[in-house]
Amino acid sequence: MSLKPVKIGICGLGTVGAGTFNVLSRNAQSIAARAQAVLQVVHVGARRDNPDCALGDTRVSRDIFDVARDPEVDILVELIGGTTVARELTEEAIRNGKHVVTANKALIAEFGNEIFALAEEHGVSVRFEAAVAGGIPIIKALREGLAGNRIEWLAGIINGTGNFILSEMREKGRDFADVLAQAQDLGYAEADPTFDVEGIDAAHKLVILASLAFGMPLQFAAVYTEGISRLTTQDVDYAEELGYRIKHLGVAKQNGDGVELRVHPTLIPEQRLLANVNGVMNAVLVEGDAVGPTLYYGAGAGAEPTASAVVADLVDLARDLAAGQSNRVPALGFAREQLRDLPVVPMAQVVTPWYLRMEAEDKPGVLSAVASLFSEQGISIEALIQKAPAEGETRVPLIVLTNRAAQGSVDAAVQAIEALDSITGEITRIRVEALDG
Ligand code: HSE
Repeated sequence: MSLKPVKIGICGLGTVGAGTFNVLSRNAQSIAARAQAVLQVVHVGARRDNPDCALGDTRVSRDIFDVARDPEVDILVELIGGTTVARELTEEAIRNGKHVVTANKALIAEFGNEIFALAEEHGVSVRFEAAVAGGIPIIKALREGLAGNRIEWLAGIINGTGNFILSEMREKGRDFADVLAQAQDLGYAEADPTFDVEGIDAAHKLVILASLAFGMPLQFAAVYTEGISRLTTQDVDYAEELGYRIKHLGVAKQNGDGVELRVHPTLIPEQRLLANVNGVMNAVLVEGDAVGPTLYYGAGAGAEPTASAVVADLVDLARDLAAGQSNRVPALGFAREQLRDLPVVPMAQVVTPWYLRMEAEDKPGVLSAVASLFSEQGISIEALIQKAPAEGETRVPLIVLTNRAAQGSVDAAVQAIEALDSITGEITRIRVEALDG
């Protein structure tokens, strides 16, 4: 039986573009058998060629909008990144009746609501498996595999660059800047790597996961975002002494009538699987009421892992085309008119255990003054370490692990403790997640 072709235009020929081209050609036979169609790249839009992929006689346009308007193209793959031109390109493709596959988390997180509405209006689909956690099929898992569940919470390591940096710092004591440069060389980092180290990239991904999990419109502006740039090896080491690893986590949790949406460095008990996810690997832990905990693990960045997700979306769309359907699965899994505007819980009300580190005078009475300021806020102390003073120093590092406490109470205690004469400088605060339900 001869299979019909589905014609694809790829815009952007960087790391992921080249990876997609290569996976499509290397695995053409099995992909065609799965898609019930030959996935044929007929048009590439790119400002420059990429030595990592041989385009052969594929048509190449320097103006990417030529691809969006090409009547031959059925599906446009948007891999240019950014949100301005990428949004115009995506909307132009949709208006021209093309389905869109994108790896662009910023685009979906910030403008997904508008893009999905436009796609529905034009009877086309937008797919974005590659936007979150690289090669891990977490979007499909939340949208389809877990569709029977009420999702209680999810927590994930969803920035490969950040995890690579933290792992190298912990395992090899390497310098932050040096590891970041290597992540850029390996094609893991964003064009602007502050997106990786300041948590913005993870926030983009978290908001997408939360919308799929809880059936809510995308609310990127509501995510609390803290990166890894201020973490020190000192904290990594002290955390280890207490039996924890520091990971950069995205957490989305049902809390009363609202949801918590937060991205920040987090101490995780060292025996948890997530604490042992290292290098560029990502992992997302999802707790559903029926299924219980499920864990998804894999490469979170890189050419072919991300291409794997792009190609899966292409196969999905080709199957829909073969069945004469579009939007069979809504973009966020829930019918758009059923999405609920859930309120995001203010961070002051978010309750977790805390790790705090301060510099204290090494003299009698300091510990009890600190302890009583915690107790005034109803915060109980789970563990406390006082390190020996360095040679010729009178101050000592004091590390406190608290029980569960609202951020508002911790803020008040920290403010009062920082005002003590016996405490120098700012107190370092990192949240703790037990990840046990
Ligand atoms: N910069 C991203 C990361 C790429 O490091 O995870 C994949 O989204």
